[in-house]
Amino acid sequence: MNFSFDTVPQIVFETGAAARLGEIVSPRMKRPCVVTDRGVIEAGLIDDALQSLEAAGLDYHLFGGVEADPPAKVVRAAIEAAREHNADGVIGFGGGSSMDTAKVIACLINTSQSLEEIYGMDRVAGARAPLVLLPTTAGTGSEVTNISVITSDDDQKMGVVASQLYADMAVLDAALTASMPRHVTAATGIDAMVHAIEAYTSKIKKNPLSDALARQALKLLSANIIHACEAPDDIKARENMLLGAMLAGQAFANAPCAAVHALAYPLGVHFHVPHGLANSLMLAPVLRFNCKVAAPLYAELGDVIGAGDTGDFQMRAESFVAKMAEICAATGVQSRLCEVGVSHNVLPKLAEDAAKIERLLKNNPRPVTQDDCLALYTEVL
Ligand SMILES: NC(=O)c1ccc[n+]([C@@H]2O[C@H](COP(=O)([O-])OP(=O)(O)OC[C@H]3O[C@@H](n4cnc5c(N)ncnc54)[C@H](O)[C@@H]3O)[C@@H](O)[C@H]2O)c1
Ligand SMILES: [Fe+2]
Repeated sequence: MNFSFDTVPQIVFETGAAARLGEIVSPRMKRPCVVTDRGVIEAGLIDDALQSLEAAGLDYHLFGGVEADPPAKVVRAAIEAAREHNADGVIGFGGGSSMDTAKVIACLINTSQSLEEIYGMDRVAGARAPLVLLPTTAGTGSEVTNISVITSDDDQKMGVVASQLYADMAVLDAALTASMPRHVTAATGIDAMVHAIEAYTSKIKKNPLSDALARQALKLLSANIIHACEAPDDIKARENMLLGAMLAGQAFANAPCAAVHALAYPLGVHFHVPHGLANSLMLAPVLRFNCKVAAPLYAELGDVIGAGDTGDFQMRAESFVAKMAEICAATGVQSRLCEVGVSHNVLPKLAEDAAKIERLLKNNPRPVTQDDCLALYTEVL
């Protein structure tokens, strides 16, 4: 059995850690560019962290202009802002959009490489600037992945995948996630569950370390997501969600995602459906589609989430698929494409786009054609 496994070298998991961010990052940088979005600033989430940077004598620049599914032009503006500040390090503070933007800034701030030149696998030349990431959603796991997802100028979701995108440090403070509104808690938490499931069934790079992480992640996430939605201030549930999302991130960084993500991306590009919600919409149909082929693995995951079936593996797999759909429904997220503005006539275009995302589809346990994509979208219209 051959495999390799990478993750970030240092993880600080400490509720309240953001308030001592200055002390944590000062050995690594003196003039950081702090990267976030308006929602995070308006929720007052970053105030304590900025104060602590000041108290530690750090001369920071705040870039607060990140947009969801970060568009290339916003990323370029952020790189320019960091250069103008003469930043010697980057702090990504927010959801996946802010962290993904921060990762790319750290790679490009000191080079002449363009953003377009690093789209794809292992295209980043040279070392990056020091990079510290703090998630405020319990979802993407971007704080521990080597991936950044950017929306290109021609509206394609482009992955930048390179070892330089592993941060120097991830700081996980569950208190930062308590202000997420219910629909964001739900969607980002479902995204994390999809990471765990797709890593566990990943066709090419499935490995024992990712498996162990994915199982523990799915156990934590499935047991806490509904409670985190219903009791948003319960910090224990928030910690379990944040830990689960990070473990799932470590799993899928080494055993990549598959068809749920491939089908979700066009919904984000064409209809600005948030990433987690797009995944949630496509989860049940893809699980049903994969169920026969992936039944032995789905049966194992059914045991992990306590789906409760003790029959043969096909029955246990079906219970797993049903239980996942039940958990998603209980969070209150939408379950049909028509609820997010998608109409029948665009489905062929969505299917055409999804079928092109070979880097994800090749990891799916069952081969997926363009016709399959169309059938899967139609099923949840
Ligand atoms: N790099 C990776 O490994 C990876 C993996 C999966 C997804 N992604 C990408 O990450 C992005 C999605 O990230 P996301 O789901 O975390 O959402 P996001 O970063 O786009 O944030 C969603 C919204 O939630 C708000 N928000 C974030 N934290 C909050 C908090 N604690 N309280 C209140 N509001 C808060 C933000 O302001 C924003 O309006 C997509 O671009 C997706 O493609 C990256
Ligand atoms: Fe995702």
